[in-house]
Amino acid sequence: MTTEETGASPTFAIVPIPTSLATDPRYSRHTQAVITQRYRALRLHALKTAPAAFASSYELEVKRGLDQTLDRLSNPKAINFIALKANSESKDTTTSDDGLPELLMPEWMAEWVGMIVLLGPQSDDTSSGPSARRDPFAKMTGPIEALEDQDTVDSHSRPRYALRYHLNGVFVNPSARKSGLGQRLVSAALEKAAAAAREAQVPMKCSVLVDSENDVARRVYEAAGFRVVAREAYVQQPRELVAGESQASERVALLMKVELGSPGDR
Ligand SMILES: CC(C)(COP(=O)(O)OP(=O)(O)OC[C@H]1O[C@@H](n2cnc3c(N)ncnc32)[C@H](O)[C@@H]1OP(=O)(O)O)[C@@H](O)C(=O)NCCC(=O)NCCS
Repeated sequence: MTTEETGASPTFAIVPIPTSLATDPRYSRHTQAVITQRYRALRLHALKTAPAAFASSYELEVKRGLDQTLDRLSNPKAINFIALKANSESKDTTTSDDGLPELLMPEWMAEWVGMIVLLGPQSDDTSSGPSARRDPFAKMTGPIEALEDQDTVDSHSRPRYALRYHLNGVFVNPSARKSGLGQRLVSAALEKAAAAAREAQVPMKCSVLVDSENDVARRVYEAAGFRVVAREAYVQQPRELVAGESQASERVALLMKVELGSPGDR
């Protein structure tokens, strides 16, 4: 497996889907199709299993075909991490550079049980941050302003700008919950963002929007260092309500943020 393993049974791994899936000639049409279908199935499963946890809805996304899914997976500023659960009888634990072999293993060997999306980076000087009222995907995957064209260092030689990221859509299959997998997905995404910021020698800032009633998710983010900085009302995409749920669709989102490597940290 590509990343860390627990050593205990079952074994989990967090593997990013290569954003070059659609363009790299090493990836056959078959490979693209398998990854895209599995991703779409897990995303739709997440929207069905936890309808109140996402601003989007199953009803909206089921209308989107595999081409649109592949487009999303190919956006260089939206890295999708998949949590894999390895069957204990699987003898193949080979590591690979890009995680593709693990993602392509048959489901009985490596089940797709969780996901998270890391959106960004954006340079930090843009006026408004993410909002529950807009699609963070559209906001965070727009063109980045060239950092090299800006005065990125202040008079004390400290970086003035940060790379800004946003986490979206964390989900763990109910069968795999409460094993620390949610926290590992968040950590894997944050580590990727932190590595990019270290390379650019600027601080990294990351945000996430959490429904105010989603205590479990909020605690998972808090464990990774996120703190609530704002709250705002938002309206979910139209969806079928689960039994007993009220029709009121106006909800409150918490905006949570974490910052690493800021001048004040040093
Ligand atoms: C939120 C979600 C991703 C968390 O996934 P998870 O894998 O259960 O998360 P973790 O295991 O890392 O942590 C969840 C809890 O399990 C606990 N836990 C972690 N490892 C554990 C273990 N080995 N034994 C018992 N409990 C454990 C954690 O302490 C945490 O408990 P707490 O909330 O009381 O602090 C999952 O519940 C989910 O998919 N929910 C629906 C979608 C959703 O709400 N997404 C958020 C959108 S913002």
